Amino acid sequence: MERTFLMVKPDGVQRGLVGRIISRFEDKGLKLIAGKLVQITEEQAKRHYAEHEGKPFFESLVRFITSGPVFAMVWQGDDVITLSRMVIGKTQVTEALPGTIRGDFAAHTPFNLIHGSDSLESAEREIANFFEPHEILNYSRSIDPWI
Ligand code: TYD
Ligand code: MG
Repeated sequence: MERTFLMVKPDGVQRGLVGRIISRFEDKGLKLIAGKLVQITEEQAKRHYAEHEGKPFFESLVRFITSGPVFAMVWQGDDVITLSRMVIGKTQVTEALPGTIRGDFAAHTPFNLIHGSDSLESAEREIANFFEPHEILNYSRSIDPWI
């Protein structure tokens, strides 16, 4: 079953949007299999955003993501990577459509509230950067046959 790494960024935690953001993914029928509030270290932030190293926004992105607690999660489901990025919306807040998390709640990039893995390889790497295998739970729900 496909897995992805989702993370409410410090702006989402500060604004008290953790619950409402999680609800968007629950509403979609995706399954939460790990979650924790963490203060991300600089090393962890740089590993997380390694693909952006050297870009003009990299240093400020690392400062932002380490500026306060984040809510890190693993979600599971068929096509969960594509589906969760649709729920999240476009990177640039000026392009994020209403109905998406960023479209409904974010007004300034990079304060776009939530991170979602963009491929199977990123998901695997990002999950390993935040979670030990024993923190990720396997359980069944009665609604699973309907989703
Ligand atoms: P990216 O991985 O391209 O976007 P996404 O979060 O949608 O996967 O970029 C990571 C974060 O870096 C993005 O959420 C916000 C920030 N960022 C900027 O501040 N300026 C930019 O031009 C880009 C591309 C990203
Ligand atoms: Mg990305």
